[in-house]
Amino acid sequence: MNNNSTRRPFTPVPHEGDDGLFRQTWYALCRSSDLPAGSVLGRDFLDGRVAIFRGADGQAQVVSAYCPHLGADLSVGCVTGNSLRCAFHHWEFGPDGRCQRTGTGDPTPPHARVFKFPTVERFGVVWAFNGEQPLFELVEPSRPWNNLVWSTAPAFQLKTDPWIVCCNTPDWSHFATVHRFGFESEGQHETLRFEEFGVRRTFQAQLEFGEGPQIDFEVTVRGTNLVLIEGSIGGQWFGVAASLGLPRPGLCDFFITTMVDRTEDPSEEAATARLQDYVAISKRMAAEDSPIWDTIHFKPGALTKSDRALARYLEQLRRFPRAHPSKDFIN
Ligand code: FES
Ligand SMILES: [Fe+2]
Repeated sequence: MNNNSTRRPFTPVPHEGDDGLFRQTWYALCRSSDLPAGSVLGRDFLDGRVAIFRGADGQAQVVSAYCPHLGADLSVGCVTGNSLRCAFHHWEFGPDGRCQRTGTGDPTPPHARVFKFPTVERFGVVWAFNGEQPLFELVEPSRPWNNLVWSTAPAFQLKTDPWIVCCNTPDWSHFATVHRFGFESEGQHETLRFEEFGVRRTFQAQLEFGEGPQIDFEVTVRGTNLVLIEGSIGGQWFGVAASLGLPRPGLCDFFITTMVDRTEDPSEEAATARLQDYVAISKRMAAEDSPIWDTIHFKPGALTKSDRALARYLEQLRRFPRAHPSKDFIN
């Protein structure tokens, strides 16, 4: 037999949408700043469609897009108070997702409702959880929000699942090969702490293979769609959040939020200038990874000793809860 036909088998990691299921985690949908009070947006999500709106109470809400009357897309409707009104026959859906009134005054059918996703706003991004109830919370930065100056760039898209982006954190060796970080290989596995829904890694590196500044990093992967990098350069804190969305299987919306603590700068101008420096660094790092993410045909193949942490994270991804409770609403 030809040796080329005897590739070793590997244990696959489920891709998003396999068996019609998606990981039960928080997904990034849009920037908070793109959703002023009284507005509604439509977005593709989990291979279906959702409407995102902000009512008079200021709360962002995410609901299935298709009206249970005749299926009009609610994102072309409008917000009235804290409800969303369909453009077609003016049925109105309240904050609990139930139809509160019809345009004609006919009684509302008892089962007329849209699917309401648990929703939070964090890192300047609106998030929805794939489930009736969240299984875990998103993390917060370690500095109080009031101290932070931050900016969220418009999303770009990558042709990959978000969990593949998250694999970069336990894949510590790529920080040297792709990002030119200088650190000792010995002991890197020990810099990782696994949690029920994610992993943390605390490490030090010197940029440009030791020629650049030293940075202390604390990286948190929570669920499969958030990577929060906190660090300090020369004693000053910075944060970068990569918030990832999933319009459809194999496609990732990528929002980058960069943060500095204004109390560490002599003036607001100095904080803003430092923020711009870090925005440039985060953009550069994402640009280094992007051609790889955008073309990868990910499968865990021949892993080596240095891939131990990655292998353990892949095990977590295989066991990660998967479901699709909104399926009949968003399609
Ligand atoms: S389709 Fe929405 S009210 Fe008729
Ligand atoms: Fe990377």
